[in-house]
Amino acid sequence: MRKPLVAGNWKMHGSRVDNAALVRGLLDALKSESTAEVLLCPPYVYLWETGRLIKDSDIELGAQNVCAETQGAFTGEVSAAMLRDVGCRYVLVGHSERRQIYGETDTLVARKFVAAQSQKLTPVLCVGETLDEREGGRTVDVVTRQIDAILAVSGVAALASAVIAYEPVWAIGTGRNASPEQAQEVHGMVRGKVAALDATIGASVRILYGGSVKASNARDLFSMPDIDGGLVGGASLKAEEFARICAAADH
Ligand code: PGA
Repeated sequence: MRKPLVAGNWKMHGSRVDNAALVRGLLDALKSESTAEVLLCPPYVYLWETGRLIKDSDIELGAQNVCAETQGAFTGEVSAAMLRDVGCRYVLVGHSERRQIYGETDTLVARKFVAAQSQKLTPVLCVGETLDEREGGRTVDVVTRQIDAILAVSGVAALASAVIAYEPVWAIGTGRNASPEQAQEVHGMVRGKVAALDATIGASVRILYGGSVKASNARDLFSMPDIDGGLVGGASLKAEEFARICAAADH
């Protein structure tokens, strides 16, 4: 049985005061409600403090990005070892905002994936098509290409300690989520692709859905057979709402 995972991607929001209130609110709201694994991904500068706030809970800590390099003259970058050092267990790689705004290529994302695993961080590999790509019937091609870039470098075995997040770009921050059926179609394709290479890993790899997940649509999305939880942006900034999404992921 795949343990559901709900990850909050705070993006570039918050402050020390706001974040502490959010985490405290979440700790209260989550107490009896959720058996899903819960992951928080604050901005880098708030990782340490967030980690301290959640240290007596089951909530996990993750970062939103990582440098592909190990150490050295890379001004402004943060290495996987540093993330590990401040308590992260997870890191997002290849979020669509990194790909689209900061020009991260499939090749760079694959290097980040490798860097994360080299420090025993679990990468959450984000994949997904733009609206143009979907309307052009290229969804499967794009998602396949993004996953193939990882398989080419790391092989299917690496997916045993990774999470995949399907996030259609047109659904992110737009209020327009993929329907459960649209998401399931892609999740099923991804799982089938992995399973064709390794049946055990195909059955066990967690595939999250992201893109306008809210308390009101989470249960329908998470009830689909190949959707193992969510990667949640905007709605993770509201403790009650995020806790309700986590509860919706419970089996
Ligand atoms: P959203 O963002 O939930 O605000 O659509 C999801 C994401 O970018 O991970």
